[in-house]
Amino acid sequence: MMIKNICCMGAGYVGGPTMAVIADHCPNIQVTVVDLNQQRIDAWNDSDLSRLPVYEPGLDFVVDRARGRNLHFSTDVDSAIAAADIVFISVNTPTKVKGLGAGQASDLRWVEACSRQVANAAQGHTIVVEKSTLPVRTAETIRTILEASQAPLQEGEVPKSFAVLSNPEFLAEGTAIRDLECPDRVLIGGEDDDSINALADVYMHWVEPAKILRTNLWSSELSKLTANAFLAQRISSINSVAALCESTGADVQEVARAIGTDSRIGPKFLQSGPGFGGSCFQKDILNLVYLCRHFGLPEVASYWESVVELNTWQQHRISRLIVQRLFGTVTGKRVAILGFAFKADTNDTREAPAIRIALDLLEEGAQLAIHDPKVEQAQIARDLREAPVELDPATGKSQGLSGVGSWLSANSVEEAVEGADAVVLLTEWSQYKSLDWQDLSRRMRRPAWVFDSRTIVDPDQVRSAGLRLWCVGNGSL
Ligand code: NAD
Ligand code: UDX
Repeated sequence: MMIKNICCMGAGYVGGPTMAVIADHCPNIQVTVVDLNQQRIDAWNDSDLSRLPVYEPGLDFVVDRARGRNLHFSTDVDSAIAAADIVFISVNTPTKVKGLGAGQASDLRWVEACSRQVANAAQGHTIVVEKSTLPVRTAETIRTILEASQAPLQEGEVPKSFAVLSNPEFLAEGTAIRDLECPDRVLIGGEDDDSINALADVYMHWVEPAKILRTNLWSSELSKLTANAFLAQRISSINSVAALCESTGADVQEVARAIGTDSRIGPKFLQSGPGFGGSCFQKDILNLVYLCRHFGLPEVASYWESVVELNTWQQHRISRLIVQRLFGTVTGKRVAILGFAFKADTNDTREAPAIRIALDLLEEGAQLAIHDPKVEQAQIARDLREAPVELDPATGKSQGLSGVGSWLSANSVEEAVEGADAVVLLTEWSQYKSLDWQDLSRRMRRPAWVFDSRTIVDPDQVRSAGLRLWCVGNGSL
């Protein structure tokens, strides 16, 4: 089966970069990424590459090479489906907020809508690929919808046929292009060899065949949830140990190094921090928890649920200790928040630890000055669900009411830190690793604190600038 046309439904953090890399490596395949969101498609088509809707290092170069040649972004969904040999479904699958399974199960309404649209618009044989992260056995639902689409044929009309594959995406944000270019593995789950081979052939334009793993559909769907659960579990494990380090005089960096050199444990994903964020870990574990309960495995469900609970606890623990160190109250105090994205090198704030920590501090009455090199003020406002505070034109300072928290977006680190009682580092942006603490210290109100949740500052520099320091998991400070 020769693949000449690909359609991807969903031009988000996964669909956009993944299709850009496929188009870049497969100039003989036309790749069309479609979305219902006109604004997002316009941004993907923007001639100014700095305005692409997703910030990922290297993405602009890839898009620049392929766009207009064999990479297209469009809202004409039906035409793209009709022309496609393969349709990737790469739409959002957030946690349900109401109804059956609310708070845990994935909301599959967008996946179902895509399946119905493919059923209607497809022509001839179409391979439908689950790229979104989905509960086990979703392929069955998709197949049922597709098969129900067979209307009685008109004379001369070619019957429609479908194959469903699972091909979960393992890219991490911030390193998406590198992960797509050099994946640890590409996973394809399916039941018919022709379709699996056709999809494998696309990847084999740049991925070595040994890295393309073939499984049955259900193993593939479950592997994605399991991979994220294992990764997140390591973060909760090291964060639990960080708290113990702080109480005992141990240093979690040293503990992580000591255990990470055991080849059975390995050094990756042992960085203690403000808890994991991002659109995937929490959502996918909660989905796993829901599935376990559904299949009558409450003990397994509780085991995985504790990974999320520990993560939430870590975030509240950090906001609590900030308040405690600042003499038990932050009401009316300026606190500089450095970093709002859930990790460095992305503009994504979904489930960012900064959101929960900022909300806790606002609840305590703090005046936050938030800086992030890539996150826009409007996004922070959406995440904190309120508008930024108006500055007093006379003093240039915010007018937080006593006991009521407020926030503003700062254009520079210096601006954020001006007059602050504390600096809280929440994202490991490289520019925060080489701050001039002597200069920043002069701008702050004494006694002043630095709370480093990412272990990126040099403790000697911070302390020699006259600042007090808390560093996650470091009980020796
Ligand atoms: P996203 O929210 O950034 O993008 C999803 C896009 O789908 C949106 O632009 C939305 O408008 C569009 N969409 C929704 N319904 C549509 C429809 N019927 N037709 C066309 N477009 C439609 O989401 P994302 O981060 O790209 O994640 C997509 C999926 O990939 C999720 O299941 C997620 O769990 C999974 N995933 C995400 C990552 C990640 O790092 N973000 C990594 C691996 C897997
Ligand atoms: C994750 C998975 O890594 C990826 O395979 C999957 O496809 C999507 O979900 P992502 O959420 O984009 O990727 O980033 P990741 O690098 O995994 O980081 C997730 C969160 O964990 C971030 O908040 C990060 O700061 C945090 N983290 C990561 C730690 O706190 N410590 C670590 O050692 C690693």
